[in-house]
Amino acid sequence: MRNYPRCIVYSSVTGNTRKIASFLAQNLNIPLFPIAEAPDPQDFPCLILGFWVVRGMPDPPMLRYMHTVREKQIFFFCTHAAWPDSAHIAHLRTSVSQLLEANHNELLGSFTCQGRVHFTASNGHHPMTAERKRRLEEAARHPSSEDCEKALNVLSMALKESCA
Ligand SMILES: Cc1cc2nc3c(=O)[nH]c(=O)nc-3n(C[C@H](O)[C@H](O)[C@H](O)COP(=O)(O)O)c2cc1C
Repeated sequence: MRNYPRCIVYSSVTGNTRKIASFLAQNLNIPLFPIAEAPDPQDFPCLILGFWVVRGMPDPPMLRYMHTVREKQIFFFCTHAAWPDSAHIAHLRTSVSQLLEANHNELLGSFTCQGRVHFTASNGHHPMTAERKRRLEEAARHPSSEDCEKALNVLSMALKESCA
């Protein structure tokens, strides 16, 4: 794997983030690792990190991995239930960028989109308001093939502009 300049590491429980990760890996011919098989970050100068959002932050396994990544070029992408242009997602982007930059990583760019929420007994506690229903109905349409194409475009541009 040391011959590859970059790889994708993703975390996904219900498949939304995996769908984008697989699409990117196939189209750009980049090695793909689920978080459980994540490589040593030292093996790659550039890492593309995909995660799902939990309580406004990357999911815990990806968050732990991110803390081990230092002095790399990073692109991150994620799926979430919130509206992409919400303060919640703006805050998430800022928090993740700061976390990565604190470890002297260079941020190449990011992409986020909604992803369907699969309800279980443990995550269905929020009251179902009309606004929430509308948001979840929209989230259920994502990630679409258009989202995958958009992610590919944003990542391709970011890689072209970097030297990785
Ligand atoms: C326990 C739990 C917590 C979540 N917290 C958030 C959150 O804080 N913000 C958000 O926008 N979406 C949240 N979501 C929605 C997921 O991030 C979204 O459905 C994501 O696409 C799941 O990705 P996956 O299919 O790759 O596992 C949450 C979902 C679950 C199950």
